Formats: sequence, C-alpha cells, structure tokens
Amino acid sequence: MKSIRLLAFACAASAHVPYSQYVLTPKSRTLRPASVYSINGTVQDAQSLVGGNANAVFVGQSAVTYDFGKNVGGLVSFNVSEVTTSGAYIGISFTESSIWINPEGCDATADAGIDAALWWQVSSGSSYTAQKQFQRGGFRYLNVYHNTTGNVTLSDLTVYYTAIPHYSEEQLAQGIQTGYFHCEDEQINRIWYAGAYTNELCTIDPTTGNSLIYLGVVNSSSVVTTPLPWYSNTTISNGSAVLVDGAKRDRLVWPGDILISQPGIFVSSYDMEMLRDSLDSLLVLQNASGALPYAGRPFGNETYLRQNWNTFKSALNFSLSFIDDSGMANVTTPADWLRFGMGGHNIEANAILYFVLNLGTNLANLLGDASMFVQSWPALAEGIKSAANNQLWDPKLNLYRDNDTQPLTDLHPQDGNAWAIISNLTLNSERARNISEALQARWGPYGAPAPEAGETVSPFVSGFELQAHYRAGRPAAAVNLTKLMWGFMLDDPRMTNSTFIEGYSTNGDLHYAPYANDPRISHAHGWATGPTSTLTFYGAGLQVTSAAGKTWLIEPQLGGLSNIEAGFQTNLGSFSTQTTALQGGGLNVTFSTPRNTSGTLRLTYSGTLASLTVTNLEAGSSMTSQKMAKRQMQSDEAGTKVVTLSDLPGGNYTVVLRTVD
Ligand SMILES: *[C@@H]1O[C@H](CO)[C@@H](O)[C@H](O)[C@H]1NC(C)=O
Ligand SMILES: *[C@@H]1O[C@H](CO)[C@@H](O)[C@H](O)[C@H]1NC(C)=O
Ligand SMILES: *[C@@H]1O[C@H](CO)[C@@H](O)[C@H](O)[C@H]1NC(C)=O
Ligand SMILES: *[C@@H]1O[C@H](CO)[C@@H](O)[C@H](O)[C@H]1NC(C)=O
Ligand SMILES: *[C@@H]1O[C@H](CO)[C@@H](O)[C@H](O)[C@H]1NC(C)=O
Ligand SMILES: *[C@@H]1O[C@H](CO)[C@@H](O)[C@H](O)[C@H]1NC(C)=O
Ligand SMILES: *[C@@H]1O[C@H](CO)[C@@H](O)[C@H](O)[C@H]1NC(C)=O
Ligand SMILES: *[C@@H]1O[C@H](CO)[C@@H](O)[C@H](O)[C@H]1NC(C)=O
Ligand SMILES: *[C@@H]1O[C@H](CO)[C@@H](O)[C@H](O)[C@H]1NC(C)=O
Ligand SMILES: *[C@@H]1O[C@H](CO)[C@@H](O)[C@H](O)[C@H]1NC(C)=O
Ligand SMILES: *[C@@H]1O[C@H](CO)[C@@H](O)[C@H](O)[C@H]1NC(C)=O
Ligand SMILES: *[C@@H]1O[C@H](CO)[C@@H](O)[C@H](O)[C@H]1NC(C)=O
Repeated sequence: MKSIRLLAFACAASAHVPYSQYVLTPKSRTLRPASVYSINGTVQDAQSLVGGNANAVFVGQSAVTYDFGKNVGGLVSFNVSEVTTSGAYIGISFTESSIWINPEGCDATADAGIDAALWWQVSSGSSYTAQKQFQRGGFRYLNVYHNTTGNVTLSDLTVYYTAIPHYSEEQLAQGIQTGYFHCEDEQINRIWYAGAYTNELCTIDPTTGNSLIYLGVVNSSSVVTTPLPWYSNTTISNGSAVLVDGAKRDRLVWPGDILISQPGIFVSSYDMEMLRDSLDSLLVLQNASGALPYAGRPFGNETYLRQNWNTFKSALNFSLSFIDDSGMANVTTPADWLRFGMGGHNIEANAILYFVLNLGTNLANLLGDASMFVQSWPALAEGIKSAANNQLWDPKLNLYRDNDTQPLTDLHPQDGNAWAIISNLTLNSERARNISEALQARWGPYGAPAPEAGETVSPFVSGFELQAHYRAGRPAAAVNLTKLMWGFMLDDPRMTNSTFIEGYSTNGDLHYAPYANDPRISHAHGWATGPTSTLTFYGAGLQVTSAAGKTWLIEPQLGGLSNIEAGFQTNLGSFSTQTTALQGGGLNVTFSTPRNTSGTLRLTYSGTLASLTVTNLEAGSSMTSQKMAKRQMQSDEAGTKVVTLSDLPGGNYTVVLRTVD
C-alpha cells in the first residue's frame, strides 16, 4: 500500500494540464447513471436514481435501462428500502452497445450466447453489492429488472468504478492525465481523449482477469438457450494494475494490442510502472526456444532494457530461425490478430521482423553489444527488404501482395502494407507515398478495409495505417482517416461515445468477421486507440527518440489542420509543442523540452523558404536563417522540402518559418 501511495503523490504533483474539460476519466469512483434510457412496465420515479439517491418503485414485473452516458466499469450496488411481497428478485445486466439491451441478460463475453444477469433475492431495509468476481469491465447501459409480483422500492443505485485501480480517490479528483492534446477540430479532440479513456478502462486489477471458462466449451456452433454465468477472477500479472486488451473481454495481456495502447498511455498518463508489470507478465512466458509473445519500443528505461536484453535477443533468434533461402521468414504459425491466411513469406510478418532487426541494432548500439549475433542483423534486414521488394511488390496496384505462395494471391493486405511503410522496408520514399495513396483509394464509407480479415474494418490495423500515412508524408490522409473511422466509432449511436470498438464490418454493421457472436465484440479495446499516440507523435510532432526523451524530435505535420497543441511528461520533465499555420504560408512552432536533453527540429514545407527564425527564449538568443546556416540542413525528398536543425539543447523555443509560393 505504501508504494502505491508514494506513486500516487508523485503523479498527483504533475497532473495540472490544460484542456481537462475533454477528459473522460471520472472524478470519483462512485458513479451514478446519467439518464434513463428506457422503461418496461411500471417504474415510478425511475429518474430519481439518476444523479441522486431518492426512491424508485418497481411495480410488478418491470425494468429500467439506465445510461451512464459513457462506457464505465465496476461493481454495482443498490439499497432496497421496501419489498411488499416476500420472495422478490432484482436482477442487473450490462451492455456496452444499446443494440444488445436485452430482457434476458447482458451482452456477451463467450463465443456464443449472452451473459447472465446478476440476481438478488431482496428484502426490506437491505443493501446489495456485486461480489468482486462479478465486476463488469465495460458497460454504458445498466438494466435493473424486477421479475416478481408486488413492489420493490430501490435507491442509491451506484457503480464503484474499478478501472485504473492503482490511483487513489484523491488522484481521480485532481485528474490523472499528464498529457494533453488540442486542435481546432472538436471531433479530433474528443477522439484523442476517448483513446486515453479507452486505455484506462483496459487497465484493471490483475486479480480480475478473464476466467476463460468457456474456451473450447461453448463455441459459435453450440446452441445456447439460457444466458451463461460469467466471472472475472483470474490473476494475470503481478503488481497493482495491468493493461489488458479489452475492458469487458478478454481481460488478458496481449502483446499486439500493447503496440498501440502502450504509446497511447505514454502520451496521456505516463503510467509506466503499470506498463512494466504488464510487459513482465509476457516476458516471463518466454520458452526455451526463445519464443516470446512480445516485441516493441522501449519508451522508458535503459535499466529495464538492459535487464531484458538477453530475453530480447533469444526471442529475435527464434524469429530469425524462420528465414529461409528466399531471404524472408516463412511463417508457419497462423496466430496473429485473427486475420486469415497468415502463412508463408507474409509481408506483414517480414516487415515487422525487418523493423525489429533495425530496432535491435539501435538498442545494441545503445547498450554497447557488438557481439557476432548482433552484427549479423543488418545483413539479414537487408535480405528481407530486397526479397520483399522483389518477390511481393505488385507494381500494378502499388501495394505488396500478402505472400508469394503460388498461384499468386490477389490479396494485398492492409497490415503488411502499413507495416512496410512504418518499418521503412519500402524500396524508396516514392514507393511509400504510392502505397499510402493506394491504401487511401480503397477506403469505404466506414473506413479503411482489412481484406486479410474478410469484410472487416480493423481499428487496430488502421492505427498502423495512420502512422503509415504520416510517415509517407501524407498527413492529411491520416487526419481524414482519423475523422472517417474514429469519428464514426465515437458518434454512431450504437457506440459508447467514449471508447473505441475492437472491429466492425465494411458495411458499418457491428459484426466482426472473426467472431460469429456479435454481442461478444468489445467496445473498449486498447488496440483501437491509435489516434491518441499518432496525433501527439506525428500531428503535433512531439516524439522521444531515446529513453524518456533524453533525445527528442519535433516534427509537426498539420495535415490540413491549422493549429495543433500537445504535451506530455516523462521522468525527465515536460515536453510540449504548439504549431500554427501562418497566413501567407509557413509555420509558427513553439516548443518546450527539458534541460539536459537535446534533439532535432524537422519542418517540411512547400513553396520557397522566405525566412526562418529560431528563438531560444532562455538564452535570449534569436538566430536568423543566415546565422543558422552551419547547423541547418535542407534537403529535398521526393518533392518534399525539409529544414532540419539538429543538436538543439532542451529549452523553450519559437520557430517561425515563412514561405512564399
Ligand atoms: C418487457 O418485459 C417483459 C416481461 O418481463 C418481457 O417479456 C419483454 O420482452 C420486455 N420488453 C422489452 C422491450 O424489454
Ligand atoms: C426471478 O429471477 C430469479 C433469479 O433468476 C428466479 O430464481 C426466479 O424464479 C424468478 N422469478 C420469476 C417469477 O420469474
Ligand atoms: C404497488 O405500487 C402501486 C403504484 O404505486 C400501488 O398501486 C400498489 O398498491 C402497490 N402494491 C403494493 C402491494 O403495495
Ligand atoms: C471464481 O469465481 C467462481 C464463481 O464464483 C468460483 O467458482 C471460482 O472458484 C473462483 N475462482 C477463483 C480462483 O477464485
Ligand atoms: C527503471 O527500471 C528499473 C528496473 O525495472 C526500476 O527499478 C526503476 O525504478 C526504473 N526507473 C524509472 C525511472 O522508472
Ligand atoms: C497467402 O495469402 C493468401 C491471401 O491471404 C492466403 O489465402 C494464403 O493462405 C497465404 N498462404 C499461406 C501459405 O498462408
Ligand atoms: C514454409 O514452411 C512450411 C513448413 O515447413 C513448408 O511446408 C512450406 O512449403 C514453406 N513455405 C515456403 C514458401 O517455403
Ligand atoms: C529508410 O531507408 C532509406 C534507404 O532505403 C534510408 O535512406 C532512409 O534514411 C530510411 N529512413 C528512415 C526514417 O530510417
Ligand atoms: C482530406 O479532407 C479534406 C476535407 O474534406 C480534403 O480537402 C482533402 O483533399 C483531403 N485530403 C486527403 C489527402 O485525403
Ligand atoms: C458525447 O460526449 C460528449 C462529451 O465527450 C458530449 O458533449 C456529447 O453531447 C455526447 N454526444 C451524445 C450524442 O451523447
Ligand atoms: C508564434 O506563436 C507564439 C505562441 O503562440 C506567439 O507568441 C507568436 O506571436 C507567434 N508568432 C508569429 C509570427 O505568429
Ligand atoms: C521553459 O519555460 C518554462 C515556463 O516558463 C520554465 O518553467 C522552464 O524552466 C523553461 N525550460 C527550460 C529548459 O528553460
């Protein structure tokens, strides 16, 4: 408990950030319904349970659906002051989407059927609270049923909010977020904060993980006629909190999901101890072959990296054992993100392997590991890149094919093409641009398709597509896809207006091709929160390039927006940027980075550079274009003009770049 309190104060001290009006995190753990959604039968004063603790009278068989206004998670409680007929029952059920509100029970966590309601036999003058294993991690709608004759008078219907369990009530009251984002587009602002909130709902008490009771027992082909019991009481990691894939389900640590949710948490609440406990729960699973369920970016901490370096190397050794004489890895295990056809010389797997080899080389340099094994990595990476560009590139569509299995497939996956850009496996930057354009040309009315998973729109893989558009120098495509998909996921009335869904169909149905049971789909999935980190890292252009931001890159890309602000904190201090498009052409960038750090400013522009002024507000110095000539490098990459200033010491800067057409 003591260490939790200490952490609590360390975070609380730094929690004053602007734009807190967008934050969805509750200010208190005790939640009450926001409104009455519907009433079935006769319930007097149903409204009195909204925001207060007056009485509602359930007259005979009746029910009320309450709306919390946003997705929440926790343990339900209520008081019963009067029961007119003995043997009365009150039931409670939960749904994330309004379309699964049901007189029989909840939405689903299993492959078939729906989850049972919780039932209590009630008597006058008593209080009821769900047992710990019946905490429901995600729901916006809560149904209260009375299924007996006579009247039941109920009050004080509350939910004890159980997400982010390692923050104190005081911290919630003050605000737990250490990062912020703002631009002139209100929908994009709400998307950023909904992503942050989704990841919070996915941060749970590690003793309340999925119990997986129906795995392999109830599947979509089983006929399930009665609602199924459910509970969450498996311990899935050490520590006081853990990051799982989804709030309702699976409530398990999945490595792929963390690739999106971890950077989202980094930019919004910097909850790094929790992330370390989550990663550790994967690292301890490494088996003798080196196979590991994780590979990712080390945002935090060189000590931690050093401790786990051998684990990383033996995992990479395992992956490299799949490279054959084609130069590419031949994938023989189908498990991925539930996409189909995951085998052979698959472009996604090879792009990720290429990425990890280059990342590994950088990390080895950082740690001073010059072993033979490490030295073999650049050539292996080059081999993957050249084979993928020779064997998998389809010049007719400007996309990579899924694999080179004969006869050649017509499937050009979203995952592999996005990852080819992210990993810089593309032959050149022109090819990256072409892929970005080809991916955009496929967008439908509800978003970017992932044909490798059927008729699916994947908010997970589309999170990588957002990064790809930014990296290809097409930020407007990233901004437009953010609004098209995440705007839909936020504002469609079937959604929660607060958290992001796991997957849906290209026709906008809330059906996810890998599942037969639609009520099972999670509406709060960390892997769907891509915009939160991409808007900060690429839109605001605020990136850390080594542990905790000892070095940084400032590279804003407005993408059609006229103003973007963002900030976050690490244990080195505060980082922030504010970028405004100048009338007449150019950018005004102010940024702040901590003392004892250093970094690079990189600005892309069109037209002709008219002037560049860099003011370091502490040093009181102002440099004009000529004086900076020595530190400045201008280049022209595929028609994009770039100014780069490197080796800038941490500090407060204003940079004004003016252009003329
Ligand atoms: C209303 O309640 C009755 C009896 O409990 C049930 O049969 C019916 O399906 C319910 N209707 C709705 C819309 O929930
Ligand atoms: C009400 O629900 C409880 C719990 O499921 C059940 O035991 C009871 O038989 C039901 N009563 C009626 C009248 O349906
Ligand atoms: C239940 O409440 C209704 C409406 O207030 C009332 O008419 C009825 O008499 C009550 N029944 C009992 C058993 O108290
Ligand atoms: C989890 O809860 C279920 C249902 O109450 C119970 O049967 C089971 O023993 C619990 N498991 C653990 C590990 O507590
Ligand atoms: C870095 O990681 C180490 C080992 O896991 C831990 O003891 C230390 O507290 C971490 N440092 C920071 C600044 O988080
Ligand atoms: C190659 O890709 C296609 C399309 O995704 C897929 O049907 C096929 O199974 C893949 N080949 C292997 C060996 O997985
Ligand atoms: C990949 O490996 C499998 C299993 O060893 C083998 O059957 C298959 O032919 C290989 N695929 C390629 C493209 O070499
Ligand atoms: C991507 O690879 C090219 C070589 O193909 C290299 O010139 C470029 O610097 C790389 N870009 C990044 C961001 O690593
Ligand atoms: C993005 O959307 C804006 C507004 O609809 C449009 O003007 C612009 O051309 C789009 N750009 C791209 C790259 O999609
Ligand atoms: C969605 O939530 C926002 C607050 O984040 C609120 O302003 C808006 O009214 C809500 N929209 C609907 C349709 O409830
Ligand atoms: C640039 O932005 C800063 C901060 O908003 C402001 O103080 C300054 O006046 C701006 N400069 C120009 C030339 O717009
Ligand atoms: C930047 O400005 C802030 C606020 O004025 C100040 O607290 C901070 O020390 C400055 N940073 C540096 C590195 O000088």
